[in-house]
Amino acid sequence: MDHNLPDAYTVRAAIALAVRAPSVHNSQPWDWRFSGRTIELRADTGRRLRQADPEGRDLLISCGCVLHHFTTAAAALGWAARVDRMPDPDLLARIELFPREPREEDIALATAIPRRRTDRRRYATRPLTAWAENRLVRSATVHDAMLRFLDGAPQRSALTAAAVEARDLHRADPDYGLELASWSGRRYAADGVPARNAVLTTAAPLVRDFSNALLTDTDAHDGAALTVLSTADDTPLDRLRAGEAASAVVLTATRLNLASCLVTEPLELPCTRAQQVC
Ligand SMILES: Cc1cc2nc3c(=O)[nH]c(=O)nc-3n(C[C@H](O)[C@H](O)[C@H](O)COP(=O)(O)O)c2cc1C
Repeated sequence: MDHNLPDAYTVRAAIALAVRAPSVHNSQPWDWRFSGRTIELRADTGRRLRQADPEGRDLLISCGCVLHHFTTAAAALGWAARVDRMPDPDLLARIELFPREPREEDIALATAIPRRRTDRRRYATRPLTAWAENRLVRSATVHDAMLRFLDGAPQRSALTAAAVEARDLHRADPDYGLELASWSGRRYAADGVPARNAVLTTAAPLVRDFSNALLTDTDAHDGAALTVLSTADDTPLDRLRAGEAASAVVLTATRLNLASCLVTEPLELPCTRAQQVC
């Protein structure tokens, strides 16, 4: 046995943790293959949301999330990842693993993976410390993305208005509605948004219209911190990197005992995507 090569059990364990990553509508649009120390990640384009995500941006962001979850899990298992992003047109990442003693930080971040989940309920107001904000901002910067907190009322209102407009436009689109209904309200499926995670009669404007909602909202006055995550450009590589950064941010939030929810509905329509909020 070569101790410089990860065994199949280790790679499968890292993939099993990685696939708990967030993905749009929990569509899990990824495909993993591995041999020896090399692991390949491809997009499963059959799982792209044709109505909500015609350009495949959310699909690539989802794949970026699973890529970051994978490297985080591998690091905690004692394997550092060298990632070659988009080496071929149909390959999102080729990952090679090399033995490396896990650092405390690797273990702490990987421990957040099974604890993290999307929470669509209203959050209580508990101002974040500057230290916590910095940790979140830095977790994105490492992945070539920028995380900005929307502190001012005009910025928060601009984002909320864009989200409401996108939701209204989507409500008027029967094909979008059919697709959303087919991916949500599920009871026992391994993918899609489960009914128990969709909020019943929510007053929060940023929440999508998932079907058959079962989760009761909190009675908190909505005090969520709103942030915008951006990359320098909108190339396929930027989208993948945005997903890696999004994963790093939500895992860091979980480490800080904060709830989180990714929101992309206003980014899915050209007219709301073009609006300036910060
Ligand atoms: C690219 C992307 C876009 C998402 N967009 C939204 C969204 O607009 N609204 C929402 O409530 N959840 C959104 N999510 C969260 C997913 O619905 C969630 O990750 C998925 O249902 C799996 O659930 P979990 O995060 O609890 O594991 C998004 C996730 C990703 C990765």
